[in-house]
Amino acid sequence: MLPEPEAEARAASARLGERIRVELAAGGNWIGFERYMELALHAPGLGYYAGGAAKLGASGDFATAPELGTLYARTLARQVADLLAPGEAILEFGAGSGALAAALIAELAPERYLILETSAELAARQRARLGARAQWLERLPERFRGVMLANEVADAMPVHALAWRREGLMERGVSMVDGALAWAERPAAGELREAARQLRVPVPYESEIGLMARAWMRLLAARLERGALLVVDYGFPEREYYHPQRAMGTLMCHYRHRAHGDPFFRPGLQDITAHVDFTALARAAREGGLEVLGYANQAGFLVDCGITEVLGREDAADAARYAPLAAQAQKLLSPAEMGELFKVLAVGRGVPRPLLGFANCDRSHTL
Ligand SMILES: C[S@@+](CC[C@H](N)C(=O)[O-])C[C@H]1O[C@@H](n2cnc3c(N)ncnc32)[C@H](O)[C@@H]1O
Repeated sequence: MLPEPEAEARAASARLGERIRVELAAGGNWIGFERYMELALHAPGLGYYAGGAAKLGASGDFATAPELGTLYARTLARQVADLLAPGEAILEFGAGSGALAAALIAELAPERYLILETSAELAARQRARLGARAQWLERLPERFRGVMLANEVADAMPVHALAWRREGLMERGVSMVDGALAWAERPAAGELREAARQLRVPVPYESEIGLMARAWMRLLAARLERGALLVVDYGFPEREYYHPQRAMGTLMCHYRHRAHGDPFFRPGLQDITAHVDFTALARAAREGGLEVLGYANQAGFLVDCGITEVLGREDAADAARYAPLAAQAQKLLSPAEMGELFKVLAVGRGVPRPLLGFANCDRSHTL
């Protein structure tokens, strides 16, 4: 049983439900899952990221690497410092609570720290935390030189849901059935059908395709004049993503630190995510003229960046300070926690290789 939300949260979810019902009615009682996910996460004022829910941290629904403490950011800072040329900026997508920004600014004191955040509610929280130390952008600059960062942002981008059935390729969407939201399928068409036809999966099979993340990557590729983009998220290369054993796809919902598989539970109050297909992102980057600079699991990347040296600078005898940092290292590196499921993909233009974080563990040949 998932915990019952407060009355105010239930009312906000009901308002979003009404918005979804209006769209369903306009669409003949069907919308694609991508549109549903867009509304559930990003509908202005009502979606999960756009609304008032705590989201990150202990009182929220999930914890990310920057939320654990500063060890992650201080280690990542070494790679960023290595990539950043004089006069260049850091641009962070989806900065959440501002934790990564705060720690990177403290560590690197960059000339400009830019944030592109789609949630007005989170941007307000970031402004309250960071003040004049960062600048918020409304849209992607036409040209950018420097380092772009996206930590757990790609997994929040709406995905299409697909079903490979004996009768053909279906797009999974949402209908209202007996007053409740339910899955409903239609034959897949257009770009989605083409993308799905490239994949070899057994039948029956269900999974997701992130067309929006690919388009995002192509846009960044067009705007990145010199520098790199680091995408850190949970996911796999295509071969593992569409593995015969992953026949139920990768959709996951987070509500108050419980993970479950029902995207229709209290729309707007829970996070909905899909794992990231890193092969598709790398392909989109290459199509946009970028080079793949490295791909590794989070543990390999952080070790190559020197996480043990960062930890080693601390006084191990000062247990009150050292114990939480050691706990962070364990969570970031352990294959049972974030070390293996989370990956780091670096793409860029005009960057001399090899990159610090991939010196010993580059797996880009697996993409
Ligand atoms: C799971 S949170 C991660 C927050 C933070 N990066 C961290 O690691 O703690 C996802 C963040 O991405 C933002 N976001 C979602 N889609 C986005 C997009 N297309 N562009 C920029 N930010 C986006 C959300 O509002 C939120 O700040």
